Amino acid sequence: MTSHDTAGPLSADNTPAAVGGTDLTNPASLLARAVLHLHEGNPAEAERCYDACIVADPDGAVAWGGKARCRLAVADYASATEFAVAALARAIDAPEYGRLLMETAARAGDLELLGLAAKRQVRLFPEERDAVAFRQLVPETLLTPADEDGDALEAIEHVLRTVRDRRPRRYGQLLQCLLARRPRSILEIGVFDGRNGADMIHAGGRTPAGTRALRYIGFDLFEEMTAEVHKKEFSKYPLSRLEVGAALSAFNDNHLLVQGYTQDSLKAFGAAWDGAVSPVDFVFIDGGHSEETIESDWNNVAPLMSERTVVIFDDCYLDKVAALDGLGCNSLVGRLAEDPRYLVEYLPIRDCFEKEFGTLTIVVVKVRLRPSFI
Ligand SMILES: C[S@@+](CC[C@H](N)C(=O)[O-])C[C@H]1O[C@@H](n2cnc3c(N)ncnc32)[C@H](O)[C@@H]1O
Repeated sequence: MTSHDTAGPLSADNTPAAVGGTDLTNPASLLARAVLHLHEGNPAEAERCYDACIVADPDGAVAWGGKARCRLAVADYASATEFAVAALARAIDAPEYGRLLMETAARAGDLELLGLAAKRQVRLFPEERDAVAFRQLVPETLLTPADEDGDALEAIEHVLRTVRDRRPRRYGQLLQCLLARRPRSILEIGVFDGRNGADMIHAGGRTPAGTRALRYIGFDLFEEMTAEVHKKEFSKYPLSRLEVGAALSAFNDNHLLVQGYTQDSLKAFGAAWDGAVSPVDFVFIDGGHSEETIESDWNNVAPLMSERTVVIFDDCYLDKVAALDGLGCNSLVGRLAEDPRYLVEYLPIRDCFEKEFGTLTIVVVKVRLRPSFI
């Protein structure tokens, strides 16, 4: 298996036009082509077709489910679970996607998620419990009723709805990743109003107890934002540190909000950091949008990564125009994609905004350490 296979599509060029030999305007034709590629043992090519379908319709459960199967085929079980979550979020009443999530969680060795998915499946489709496949996949002990089941399953439903309904849409991909991977900690660079932080903590925590305990560290200028930085960083005006902290305290007891320029604050955090005590499993880089600041944020985050860490960059601009010169993560992630140490994936959902300079199209990019470099 090549590293390309495990990383999935390696370029932003997953437009329908980039998928050769198929009627690219016809989603049914792309789906059929994807199934064929998968049966022929070419999951990377199949995934390109599924990605092109998701570009056209981000709510297509079939394409997300297909993407999950592509990752099962290359033994990338955590990513398979992410995409199974995305499929189930778009078809919450479909038993096949509940089963797919159980299968990916089982393969990933994630007994907590397997138990939650199995209990959810039995609630919705009681007859499934007697199926041989179900009994082979789910140890009976995972189905033992617990007092907190009702709240835990309601929390999972809430995350699934948020994955589907979050706007801008690309942010739902962070939440499916967090629900699938249950990180021990989340670092968010660019807290803004805390809304995304709240969604991420709920998704990563999974249950009310997990949400309360999950470590979240948010970096922002908060009240130190100035008009000059606002312009240079193509930024937004954040809420105050106290306001965000009060909102997070309603459901989480383990957050830390760090105020200051990340060029300084992240560096200081890294210098004092002990990976054995506080592993960093998930990072969202969405602070200052100048290339200089994104580069600095990455340089401070990269040494904190382990084999479990997922880093997601916001602000990769497709069809980048001159008005965006000096902004965005494009050139950095382009270089990381060429660097053998990293697996780089452009996630498929695109958000488009009309601006005075034309259409701004944004995608998020996921970066992990390549296993052979750990
Ligand atoms: C685009 S917003 C973040 C959005 C947030 N992640 C969300 O999803 O809602 C960017 C944030 O980064 C902060 N920021 C910009 N430049 C920064 C810098 N150099 N250091 C620290 N924070 C910065 C801004 O104050 C702003 O709140």
